Amino acid sequence: MKTVSIIYFSGSGHTTQLAQSVNKGASKVEGIISNLIAINSKDIIDGRYQNDEVFTTLDSSDAIIFGTATYMGGISAQFKAFADASVGSWFAGKWKDKLATGFTVSGTPAGDKFNTMQYMNTLAMQHGMIWISLGETHYDPNGINRLGAWAGAIAQSTDNIPMAEGDMLTGEVLGKRVADMVLRFN
Ligand SMILES: Cc1cc2nc3c(=O)[nH]c(=O)nc-3n(C[C@H](O)[C@H](O)[C@H](O)COP(=O)(O)O)c2cc1C
Repeated sequence: MKTVSIIYFSGSGHTTQLAQSVNKGASKVEGIISNLIAINSKDIIDGRYQNDEVFTTLDSSDAIIFGTATYMGGISAQFKAFADASVGSWFAGKWKDKLATGFTVSGTPAGDKFNTMQYMNTLAMQHGMIWISLGETHYDPNGINRLGAWAGAIAQSTDNIPMAEGDMLTGEVLGKRVADMVLRFN
């Protein structure tokens, strides 16, 4: 069995919904185990994230999918604390050649989400990972890739705007694509 791990931060649950759809897509693929891991704020003490169990799981995964809510035009502080803590895996080259991608949710249709995606991409590049795009060439205003982005999966939701079915499908497509690519690369 090969492993995909989805590590994400969600403050009020919307990114959790998208993460669950990514997990659903990855879990569909035979031969793949998909782990859904939330970044828990309680693991951040004095600004530093620490959870050895999470890093043990990530270090042994074939693909890592990053996710965070977009806050103030970028990644959340909680995701950054996790990213900073990944320096241990970076020193040991543990994520090198693993597959990676990312997803995010913002309250507005654009919301400066691209900045969030770019940071997750940079994190993956620092680790020597291989970034997987969404792989949908078209967009459907009422369905998959509703918001029209190709770097990963993006969604729009707030407490007043429920997660769109199309955004959930986009997450599923991304999870399945990463799982398919894990089997292909192996
Ligand atoms: C501190 C904070 C900053 C936010 N900044 C943005 C932003 O820059 N752009 C945007 O469109 N939405 C922004 N939002 C809205 C959130 O992205 C949106 O509510 C999202 O669904 C939150 O995801 P979550 O439920 O997983 O935490 C912000 C929300 C908070 C709480």
